[in-house]
Amino acid sequence: MGKTLTEKILDDHLVEGELEPGEEIGIEIDQVLTQDTTGTLVWLQFEALGLDEVQTELAAQYCDHQTYQFDFKNTDDHRFLRSAAGTFGAYFSRPGNGICHNVHRENFAAPGKTLLGSDSHTPTPGGLGQLAIGSGGLDVAVAMGGGSYFIEMPEVTEVRLEGELPEWATAKDIILEMLRRLSVKGGVGKIFEYTGPGVDSLTAPERMTITNMGTELGATSSIFPSDEQTKDYLERVGRGEEYEQLQPDDDAEYHDSLTIDLSELEPLIAEPSMPDNVVPVREAAGADVDQVMVGSCTNGAYEDILPAAKMLEGETIDLSTEMIVAPGSKKASEMLAREGWTAELMAAGVNFSEATCGACIGIGHVPGSDSVSLRTFNRNFEGRSGIEDDNVYLCSPEVAAASAIAGEIVDPRDLDEDVSAPGFEMPEAFEGAENDIIEPDEAVDDDLIKGPNIGDVPLKDPLGADIEGSALLKMDDNITTDHIIPATQDILMYRSNIPKLSEFTLSRVDDTFADRALNADGGFLVAGENYGQGSSREHAALCPMYLGIEGVLAQSFARIHRANLFNFGLLPLEIDEDTYANIDQGDDIEIVDDVAEAVRSGQEEFTIRVNDDWEATGVLDASERERDILAAGGKLSHTKQQYENEG
Ligand code: F3S
Repeated sequence: MGKTLTEKILDDHLVEGELEPGEEIGIEIDQVLTQDTTGTLVWLQFEALGLDEVQTELAAQYCDHQTYQFDFKNTDDHRFLRSAAGTFGAYFSRPGNGICHNVHRENFAAPGKTLLGSDSHTPTPGGLGQLAIGSGGLDVAVAMGGGSYFIEMPEVTEVRLEGELPEWATAKDIILEMLRRLSVKGGVGKIFEYTGPGVDSLTAPERMTITNMGTELGATSSIFPSDEQTKDYLERVGRGEEYEQLQPDDDAEYHDSLTIDLSELEPLIAEPSMPDNVVPVREAAGADVDQVMVGSCTNGAYEDILPAAKMLEGETIDLSTEMIVAPGSKKASEMLAREGWTAELMAAGVNFSEATCGACIGIGHVPGSDSVSLRTFNRNFEGRSGIEDDNVYLCSPEVAAASAIAGEIVDPRDLDEDVSAPGFEMPEAFEGAENDIIEPDEAVDDDLIKGPNIGDVPLKDPLGADIEGSALLKMDDNITTDHIIPATQDILMYRSNIPKLSEFTLSRVDDTFADRALNADGGFLVAGENYGQGSSREHAALCPMYLGIEGVLAQSFARIHRANLFNFGLLPLEIDEDTYANIDQGDDIEIVDDVAEAVRSGQEEFTIRVNDDWEATGVLDASERERDILAAGGKLSHTKQQYENEG
């Protein structure tokens, strides 16, 4: 039986297990990336593990999420990250140099390699045939130390692309169509492998818009073959020698398959406030637009901004609309400026931001209250833009530019002005300043520099026999990591100070929660489906752990967050719909079994006693390795124990 491309790459990197869906496998990691939100913890954990040098082929530290410096804290964090990269042997991308995924794809991503990153959109270079997976920071720290990365072997789903995109339909519309069909849960436990004749017509950057937003489907990763388009891109970024042709076998067998006829696509838009609320732009047309933003790791590349710039050349944006371009990388910014496109955009009334995530997580350019913001980003979760009652729509740069001209949401095909379809174009070569990435052997610091806002990583005690407490908070379906620990500036600046950061835990759901949790002696979180979707931020597990939460009872868990719960020693039990419906906030919960023993022994079903009155079953779906981690009180303690045992 032939192999899928995913299986080929995994096979090349397999350290433990078998490539059977659902089986736990351990793989070798070639490259890691981390960013400033998650990176401080990654390096503090790397240090806490007693490791002294990066063992992977390559590690890269980016400073992208929070580059506006409001006070000393973020600046201190960036200096700490630079010192950690220098001390332990990683590349350091300076603040303002761009978003991790954009800079990584320009400089390091390569077909056939494995990449693990402490950012949920790490799968972006799947568009170059790289197998890239997002994870919690502790997994990244362990992988950087040479440890394997463990994951349940995903199912591989074929997405067969037929035909070619018509005028005005873009790569963004392909992934929005996937979200429309499959929803934000449709990719859980899956890797999407793109095949078929339609693949040939998509450039590598277009493919990376799709693989980037595969994360919104909940997918483990997404991947395209490495072919002439990949070669072309690598040559343009000056790394042609890293090209390697990679295809699935002709007789590869996929677990599942779906087909998209590209020629049938039209401009699509995700309405507030979920990326899968997708409709044709024409259905959303007419809503006044207050703000338009082109940027982010999804559509912030030079190749994404160029179509918007071409459409706006000689035009003026509507006086009631503000438009901001936030390039994904400084190189993109520099190229647009050198070619005169920045001047064209400015003449049309557009403002420029530095190359940063910023607005994507509500840091800067926060929309006005009860206003509409149209963004080329990947997420529009409620409140993520920095204001609770936001109305964020997601679309392509072409729809964004057309709507900025019209002052209202419009399908570019219906624009009054005579604007022709810009098409997709790549630069001859990606050229720009070369001094914004500090190589490991150019390190400017040789020791860690920790400012006063950088604390230690808290550890949890090993799991005990009795776990009880009240259901401290009951939540709905689709609770995101943004709900658990918001990534807005006023909160994010405490990312290296866990006691302070923990005060904000779940404050967007219930602002009394952190206090109640800290004062209760243990307790549980209760949630519906898809708990913990969204970013990879491990603070979303670490802060509840710090507050004394013992476990989470949910109908289902998002993949990365589920792994983070194990990594920080929180018991994740799956409950059925009835149990969820019958537990009320404030109920007394007791896990009846000797929990530590039951976890170690492989017990799957746990008895949950509620109010000493009725009982239900919670299911622990965990591998032996995950059970050991949980019993040890989390992965940090577990890995330290392992190192001690190995001497
Ligand atoms: Fe940054 Fe938003 Fe992407 S936070 S990494 S631009 S999803």
